[in-house]
Amino acid sequence: MVDTLSKESILKYTKCNLNENNLHLLSTVDSTNQYCKKLIASCPCHELLVVADTQTQGKGRMGRSFFSPVGTGIYMSLILNRKRFSLPTEFLTIAAGTAVCRVLRNYCNIDASIKWVNDIFANNRKVCGILAESVSLPETNLPEHIVVGIGINISTPNAAFPEEIQDVAGSVFPTDITRNEIIGRIANEFRSIYTKESTRVLIEEYKSYSLVLGKEISLTQNGKACIGIATDINDNGNLVVRLNNNETITLHSGEVSLGSTNFI
Ligand code: BTN
Repeated sequence: MVDTLSKESILKYTKCNLNENNLHLLSTVDSTNQYCKKLIASCPCHELLVVADTQTQGKGRMGRSFFSPVGTGIYMSLILNRKRFSLPTEFLTIAAGTAVCRVLRNYCNIDASIKWVNDIFANNRKVCGILAESVSLPETNLPEHIVVGIGINISTPNAAFPEEIQDVAGSVFPTDITRNEIIGRIANEFRSIYTKESTRVLIEEYKSYSLVLGKEISLTQNGKACIGIATDINDNGNLVVRLNNNETITLHSGEVSLGSTNFI
């Protein structure tokens, strides 16, 4: 199937208020998140989608890079103005993960799950990462805009990933659906969540996709490696963990690994 990115095709699937002007399609860019941040600095905008066919410096969380080869992935970032939506900003990353899972499950027939906070897994491989960043305007110094970047490995062969992530990264290899359709549908689902849904309903759905609930996980707390069971994701989207010493802790951010050996 031909899978060339096109504005026209993406817009065919978007019910939301995206159009020719607030959808930027680039053949190559350093990072779609970076592009959005520069755009906000030069002309404050709201609700804009940037999609690229490849990124030369794709960014991940915690200073990592995101491998973004040409033509075999989705690299998209949305600019949102926090005055224009009801969902508290700390829920945006959860909303984006939920939107990706919905689309992969409902339109791509992929059994996608979320490893808290926001890594999407399918067949025990990480297939998608999400990076949300607040952006302040120099005049106000207030974080008025949020950039939500989503990267999905669509059809990158395993051997093409950098060696150090080959055991963890994977692609979704969907059939009968183009990247244009997946992008358009994610934009729709994401918008529908952040404009209409309550945090309670969102968290319930997010929990239903969780890869970690009820499982043994490992994490680092105050520089110390700990093992415990992920018992809940609370109303604020925080992960509740019962450690092996029976202490219960609540994680607001950071990263956990499945199992006791940090293998994911
Ligand atoms: C992670 O896995 O840690 C997050 C990865 C986020 C990658 C996406 S790709 C589109 C957007 N642009 C970037 O540079 N990063 C995000």
